[in-house]
Amino acid sequence: MAHTINDLVGTDIEQYLDQHEHKSMLRFITCGSVDDGKSTLIGRLLYDSKLVFSDHLSALEQDSKTVGTQGGALDFALLVDGLAAEREQGITIDVAYRFFSTERRKFIVADTPGHEQYTRNMVTGASTADAAVILIDARKGVLTQTRRHSYLVSLLGIRNIVVAVNKLDLVDYSPEVFDTIERDYREFAAGIGIEDFTCIPMSALRGDNITESSPSTPWYTGPSLIEHLETIEIADELSGRPFRLPVQWVNRPNLDFRGFAGQIAGGSVRPGDRIRILPSGLESTVDRIVTADGDLAEAVAGQSVTISLTDEVDVSRGDVLAAADEPPGSADQFECHLIWMSDQPMLAGRPYLIKLGTRTATATAATPKYKINVNTLEHTATRTLALNEIGVCNLNLDRQIPFDPYTASRDMGGFILIDRFTNATVAAGMLHFALRRADNVHWQAVEVNKRARARTKAQHPAVLWFTGLSGAGKSTIANLVEKRLHEQGFHTYLLDGDNVRHGLNKDLGFTDSDRVENIRRIAEVTRLMADAGLIVLASFISPFRAERQLARELLDDGEFIEIHVDAPLSVAESRDPKGLYAKARRGDLVHFTGIDSPYEPPESPELRLDTGGAESAATLADRVVEHLRTLGLLTPPPAG
Ligand code: ADX
Repeated sequence: MAHTINDLVGTDIEQYLDQHEHKSMLRFITCGSVDDGKSTLIGRLLYDSKLVFSDHLSALEQDSKTVGTQGGALDFALLVDGLAAEREQGITIDVAYRFFSTERRKFIVADTPGHEQYTRNMVTGASTADAAVILIDARKGVLTQTRRHSYLVSLLGIRNIVVAVNKLDLVDYSPEVFDTIERDYREFAAGIGIEDFTCIPMSALRGDNITESSPSTPWYTGPSLIEHLETIEIADELSGRPFRLPVQWVNRPNLDFRGFAGQIAGGSVRPGDRIRILPSGLESTVDRIVTADGDLAEAVAGQSVTISLTDEVDVSRGDVLAAADEPPGSADQFECHLIWMSDQPMLAGRPYLIKLGTRTATATAATPKYKINVNTLEHTATRTLALNEIGVCNLNLDRQIPFDPYTASRDMGGFILIDRFTNATVAAGMLHFALRRADNVHWQAVEVNKRARARTKAQHPAVLWFTGLSGAGKSTIANLVEKRLHEQGFHTYLLDGDNVRHGLNKDLGFTDSDRVENIRRIAEVTRLMADAGLIVLASFISPFRAERQLARELLDDGEFIEIHVDAPLSVAESRDPKGLYAKARRGDLVHFTGIDSPYEPPESPELRLDTGGAESAATLADRVVEHLRTLGLLTPPPAG
């Protein structure tokens, strides 16, 4: 039963607030399309719980008369379809979070649009939801989009599923229609791993079975939607799991106290409990559980606490404190689901930031194993993932992270990928399991190391990375620099775009994803050559910052020297040494850098050579050699 705030607010505000404060909170998502009456349902929930403010109400009455679809009666959909532009289109876009409350519980409902291309919004809305209400129009039954919503909800690990069979008034409250839909849904749900759901007949418009049982459906004996949402158990599920606390920060107010603060992601903890710290694997015992309101004898999932330990062990932000007898795994290679959320498609081999719990690392995704057609659930082969596509692929991280499979813990197995340059979230993901193959491939310790190899060559290893447009002069200058160094007795090797593409990379073309792979391989080769003690010259368009950054990070500090061979496009094009610009302009060559494929200039290269001006290639090559000399790279490294 929706509660009457006004009664309480009028008499005892303190009591009201206190009661309100201690109610549990259920987050849920509604899935359905515009036509299923989703907005009407949410509007109804808000209206019936009396949380629509009076000025909203008068606006609603006004709008219902002008743009409403209910012939002047209150059109609840207008409460929800907030923006004017959306109202005119008759669709909702993006995620809107709305709050309402009843006597027993507080609710946050994420309202996401139903149409196909908005998987991203649904994932955003569902990522924190405890329950999902999937709307079905009684006249239409289980549709393709019902399957898509259910698949996503199940993929995101929402176990409390309500199937709201809406608009029952339009089929004369027929129990047969309801039973058929329930049967159809059950059949399909089993196939995607949904074991349990609650099916409720309703009319959001008429208010049937929303807050109270409706006299129009005497054959239905189950709860109303609100009654059901009020009784869904949420906390217990997480509390029953093994203890996990991802450390958000290390609290050290004075020398006598060191506590590890964070929100408990699973299980419970008491002073005296044995815990293991991941990824270090060290063990200790819980000393105190500290909160702003004093020490606790026990803390459970969902609570934010500071834990101190009996030993002086090393713990930092991003580590996980876990039950010593049931610790999570720790690994750097995984299989996962990825839901792509960016307009820029996924590029296999590109490093992204991965954020899992409180931990951040760098991750590269391999070519997807397959993508999933969310409407038919078919698997198809693919090399990339575009906006709203879902695929399964392997991830490689630059370090070990503690994790649980997503199915066991959303906090410990759910992650996002972030573009390292724009900081935009590009994907949401769910870890399945760690790949064990990495366990069996070790670094072979070699006794003659990079330093020793470089010393016999009387030089410091380095990678001179020439980047720029085709025709800017990269190869010409790199070639001159190598000649100069070679004449002076240095040990060098020049890797050049055209040449490498005849051998090592002859399987690659010029799409974005092939260029990423091209540079990833070259970067690995330059790393090996630098390890051999050589001065490596790499001359590649290498149009993307992300991959140049990747090449830099493979080397030790100071070894990577980025040289931007910079000529305006017009100059490079007028030179056109291979006639490729002309071809590209004619449309005979696609994905040509500078014409229909982007070039991202370096933001802070070690050197910038302006090849569009008066200086000759020879002068610019001398500048490069001079730069190496100033850095001390051309003198023998000290012994020892
Ligand atoms: S990169 O973009 O992947 O770094 P890379 O340096 O290996 O390119 O190769 C560039 C060379 O390939 C150019 O110098 C040019 O001769 C040739 N080429 C052929 N097609 C293209 C294209 N579509 N875009 C750029 N270069 C191309």
